[in-house]
Amino acid sequence: MKIRIKRQDEPETAPYWQTFDFFGKGRKTVAGILDEINYRDDLIDENGVPSRRIRWECSCMQKMCGGCAMVINGIPALACGTFVDTTEEELLVLEPLTKFPVVSDLVTDRSCILEHQKAALMYLGEKSAENEKEFANRYSAAKCIKCGLCLEVCPNYVGGEGRFYGAVLANEAYLLYTSSENRKKAIAKEYRRHFAAGCSKSLACRDICPMKLPTLSSIGYLNRTRL
Ligand code: SF4
Ligand code: FES
Repeated sequence: MKIRIKRQDEPETAPYWQTFDFFGKGRKTVAGILDEINYRDDLIDENGVPSRRIRWECSCMQKMCGGCAMVINGIPALACGTFVDTTEEELLVLEPLTKFPVVSDLVTDRSCILEHQKAALMYLGEKSAENEKEFANRYSAAKCIKCGLCLEVCPNYVGGEGRFYGAVLANEAYLLYTSSENRKKAIAKEYRRHFAAGCSKSLACRDICPMKLPTLSSIGYLNRTRL
């Protein structure tokens, strides 16, 4: 099969496409394919041009860290959780996420996710309060791995500089709101400012999320608050 990769040497340099042959058999994850290509003694592209290793991020290789998020055949997904058939006719196209600055090849800088949490004061600063009624939903909302796929597909998220912070922040706000006693008002205010005011309810974030976060429930809960 052919693997077509959008590459970029440095953050400021122009991207370019490069294609590699892959002769593996059966169904493999995209992460497994990238690993096999990078482990070759000499990496050459389909035209025989010597190439540097492909840069991409991974840590857990089991859909738990979010590091390997990229655009796979046009769809944002986790490389370690996406299987493809490695038949001769197959073409696999890999690109970096488009809503985050590219560091190199398939590596993007998603530090804005944490910066948004800090800017919206999404931390408790007080002893966490029990909220037994919400335990099940809180457990699911806490599974966010900060992969950024929900931001990639969101029609309202325009990048790190925008005021709308996306589903990551909505779930974080829900978690904090339901465990806070003294900061509920402040959390609700930041939620309205950085999420509710910009969300058009496309719910693309819910459908793409690899951790199946209960974003709709989180939003529903917070939208019902009257603070
Ligand atoms: S909400 Fe889901 S898609 Fe968005 S960052 Fe968290 S785990 Fe990833
Ligand atoms: S390597 Fe951790 S989610 Fe893919």
